[in-house]
Amino acid sequence: MSVGTMDELFVDELKDLYSAEKQITKALPKLAKGATSEELKMAFQSHLEETNGQIARLEQIFEILGKSPKGKTCVGMKGVLEEGSEMLEDTEKGEVRDAGLISAAQRVEHYEMAGYGSARDFAKLLGQSEIAALLDETLAEEKAADKKLTGISKQVNVAAKQA
Ligand SMILES: [Fe+2]
Repeated sequence: MSVGTMDELFVDELKDLYSAEKQITKALPKLAKGATSEELKMAFQSHLEETNGQIARLEQIFEILGKSPKGKTCVGMKGVLEEGSEMLEDTEKGEVRDAGLISAAQRVEHYEMAGYGSARDFAKLLGQSEIAALLDETLAEEKAADKKLTGISKQVNVAAKQA
């Protein structure tokens, strides 16, 4: 047992997020490649850049804490991303796949939102206001990415229905 205090739980959650973001940077290029809608492709590509910034933010947090970001695999994100890969395997290029990719990507965003929301609250509780502010920045980006996907889905889903 390695997690016995809120400080340890906080670091554990941050390591989990770090692992999740690393996995996402590997998955997003595949999603972008598989998408047909230019808008969706661009959304995946711009979220990849954003994700690299989020990783840098987490590295900054680990530096503040004097801890290593490594040593954990986010099993939850692994599963969520596997579902994204499955969607690519189960569909052909086109609108129906795009609708499925949006659904898969929104699962990723919601998983991240849950993780960042908890970590931000832990940071606040532990008096780490600088870290809480950094986590809040990422949380806002994840929420915006989710909203953007909802926006794109409006057109994509209608097109998919006609396919
Ligand atoms: Fe992220």
